[in-house]
Amino acid sequence: MSEDLKGKIALITGANKGIGYEIARQLGSRGATVLVGARDIKRGEEAANKLRLNGIDAQTIQLDVTDQKTIDSAGKQIETEFGKLDILVNNAGIISDGDRLPPSQIDIETLRHTYETNVFGVFAVTKALLPLLKKSTAGRIVNLSSGLASLAQNSDPNYEFASFKLLAYNSSKTAVNAITVLLAAELKDTAIKINAADPGFTATDINQYQGYRTVEQGAIPTGGYAYAAVRLATLPNDGSSGGFFDEDGVVPW
Ligand SMILES: NC(=O)c1ccc[n+]([C@@H]2O[C@H](COP(=O)([O-])OP(=O)(O)OC[C@H]3O[C@@H](n4cnc5c(N)ncnc54)[C@H](OP(=O)(O)O)[C@@H]3O)[C@@H](O)[C@H]2O)c1
Repeated sequence: MSEDLKGKIALITGANKGIGYEIARQLGSRGATVLVGARDIKRGEEAANKLRLNGIDAQTIQLDVTDQKTIDSAGKQIETEFGKLDILVNNAGIISDGDRLPPSQIDIETLRHTYETNVFGVFAVTKALLPLLKKSTAGRIVNLSSGLASLAQNSDPNYEFASFKLLAYNSSKTAVNAITVLLAAELKDTAIKINAADPGFTATDINQYQGYRTVEQGAIPTGGYAYAAVRLATLPNDGSSGGFFDEDGVVPW
């Protein structure tokens, strides 16, 4: 097991399964202390147990990104135990059932419900934890976005996923990209880097396992110069900020 992240404290939201769990596993295997954010403490503890069995220093933090009380208490818990946060991965995300309709036909509640988790949740968690990330010598924030966030790709009829026109989900991830850019501009003179990651179409619950990548590929880049979630969470001090990357490099906005 490599130890290059020894001493780093990493919180991953929605880490009890899927890509978030794999991000936690990979950061933990490199020596980071991983805080498994989970809205359901039992599911979180099961995941943390599995990580501990793999020799990873893992703890569960109850965190529902739509519930400010749990966000605030997670922040207090991290402050008391560690006094800082080095890596925040805003991974928790949903696709609402009602989103699988033509864009003009989705219900406004589907839009609200999706944004509560995918947009407001990302902002609320980031805002609450920013003071702790500022205490790190090299704070890193990774926002899980999607190729479906890209306005350029959504406008391209030849885009591989051109038929995936999920109005609530796609636009929520476009908003996440905008949040990433605006926070990066504000934080440019700090030690914090914030980027958006497209993990690729990965087989998880969110797409009923239709994705054609494994979670291991989704969490770590396979290409030589690629950036994806784990890569962006461990960027060197001269790494980028305010960008949008998949394993092949820059994704068009
Ligand atoms: N899979 C893909 O092809 C793909 C592609 C592009 C981007 N992404 C993005 O990657 C991220 C992870 O997705 P995934 O594929 O790993 O999906 P997943 O297997 O469905 O996992 C989603 C995770 O988010 C958690 N979550 C949902 N709502 C939450 C809330 N309010 N508070 C806290 N946690 C919450 C879930 O917890 P529960 O177990 O409690 O439901 C689960 O742990 C998402 O942001 C997704 O949009 C995925």
